[in-house]
Amino acid sequence: MESQGSGRDGWSSRSAFILAAIGSAVGLGNLWRFPAEAGANGGGAFVVFYILCVVLIGLPVLLSETLIGRHGQSSAPESARRLARESGASRHWSILASLGVFSAFMIVSFYCVVGGWVLHYIWVFISDLFQTGLTGGAFQGRDPAEIEAIWPSLAGNGALTVGLDFAFLAITLFFVARGVSSGIEIMAVWLMPAFFILLIAITIYGSFGGAFSETVDYLFTFEPEKLTGPVMLAAVGQAFFSLSLGVSGMITYGGYVGRNVNLAGTSVIIASADTFVALVAGLCIFPIVFAAGLGANAGPALMFQTLPHAFQSMPLGSVIGILFFVMVGVAALTSSVALLEVPTSWLMEKTGLRRVPAACTIAFGAMILGALSALSTNQLADFYPLNFIPLFEGQGVFDVLDGLTSKIFMPVAAILTTIFVGWVADRRLIDSETGLSGGLQVIWRFLVCWLCPLALLAILAVGIFPDSIG
Ligand code: TRP
Repeated sequence: MESQGSGRDGWSSRSAFILAAIGSAVGLGNLWRFPAEAGANGGGAFVVFYILCVVLIGLPVLLSETLIGRHGQSSAPESARRLARESGASRHWSILASLGVFSAFMIVSFYCVVGGWVLHYIWVFISDLFQTGLTGGAFQGRDPAEIEAIWPSLAGNGALTVGLDFAFLAITLFFVARGVSSGIEIMAVWLMPAFFILLIAITIYGSFGGAFSETVDYLFTFEPEKLTGPVMLAAVGQAFFSLSLGVSGMITYGGYVGRNVNLAGTSVIIASADTFVALVAGLCIFPIVFAAGLGANAGPALMFQTLPHAFQSMPLGSVIGILFFVMVGVAALTSSVALLEVPTSWLMEKTGLRRVPAACTIAFGAMILGALSALSTNQLADFYPLNFIPLFEGQGVFDVLDGLTSKIFMPVAAILTTIFVGWVADRRLIDSETGLSGGLQVIWRFLVCWLCPLALLAILAVGIFPDSIG
C-alpha cells in the first residue's frame, strides 16, 4: 500500500504540472457545456456570476484538493487518510476521496461517449471537405434539417456510438498506461499549446464574420434582473465541473507535485486559464452562430447541431469545422486522461498491480459502463437501475450517471473536503501547505470554513429537490 517514496512517478517540473492540470480542467465543460449553459441562461448575468463562483468557491476548493494530494503524495484516498491520521482525526475522512474516485470512474465512462461523438464530427467534416472542396461553406447544397440530423442519427446508431466510444477510451488508455511523466505529461505539454493556438486562431477568424460585438454584448452585458435562483445554481455547478472539482482529480494530480511548488499561486493560474478558455470559447462559438442568424439557446445541441449548421454559411466552413472539432477532441482527451488516472492510481496502490494492468482493468470497466451510456440514448432507454428514484425517472444510463455525479456525488465530496480542510485537519499542516499568510490567509479560511460548505450545501439541496426553487 505504501507506494510512496522517492521512486514514485511524478511531474518533472512545476510547469508540467500546471499544463497537465489545465489540461484536466479545460475540456468539454469549457467548450460544450459553458457556452450551452451561458446561452440557455441568458448570457451576461450567468457569465458574471460564474466568474464570481470561480473566485469565491472554485479557487478555495481547488487549493484544498491540491494540498491534500501534495501532502499525501499518494492516490487520492490514501492522501486524505494520511492527512487525517497526522491531524489525529478519523481515517474515515478518506471517504471524501473514495467518493471522488468512484465518480471519476463513472464520469470517464460517459465522457468518452461524447469524445466519440467528437471523433465522428471530425470525420464528417473531413469527408465533406473531400466532397465539396475548399471554397465556400460546409455541407454545400444540403438542407439544414439534414445537417441537424447528424447528431440524432449518430446517437441512434448503437454500433457506431459504441465503437467510437471505445476508440476514444483506447486513446485515453494509451497515455495513462505510459505513466505520469512519460505519458500524461508529454501529452499535455504538446497538446495544450496546440489547443491554445487553435482556439485563438478560430476565434480571430470567426470574429471577421461580423457578429463579434453582438457576442460581446450578449456575454458581458450584466442585467441584474436575469440573475435568478436557477441561473445562479447553474453557474456554481458549471464552475465546479469545469475546474474538475469534487472528483478527486486535483487530489490525484496534486499527489505528483513536489514540495517546492507554491500551491496557492499555482491554483490561481489553473483557475484563471480555465476561466479564460471558457470565455474565449464563448467568443469563438457565438459570433459564428450569430453571423448565421441562429439562436444561442440550443443547450447541448449548440455544438452538435447549431454550430455545424452555422459552418454552412462560413467561408472555408469545412476546414474550420475540422479544426474546431480537432480542438474539442484535444481538450476532451487531456480531461479523460485525468479522469482515468484517478481510479487507476487508486487501484495500483490498493492492489499492488502495475500501471498497465491497473489502467486496463479500469478501462475495461469504463468500456462496459460506457457502452450502456452510449446505447441508453436509444435502445436501452428503459433499462436502468434507478427507475425508482423520482429524480432519475425516465432517464437513460448516460443521464443517470451525469446527474448522480454532478448533482450528488461531486457536491457531497466537495462539502466533505472543505469541512475536512477548514475544520478537521491540523491547521499548521494546512498553513504550511498553502503558504498563505496575513490577510490572504484570513480570506482563504473564511471561504473554506464558511462560504464554500454553505454554498455547496445549497447546490446539493437544489440538485436533489429541483422544485424547491422557481
Ligand atoms: N473539467 C472537465 C471539463 O471541463 C471535466 C471534469 C470534471 C474532469 N471532473 C473532472 C476532468 C476530473 C478531469 C478530472 O470538461
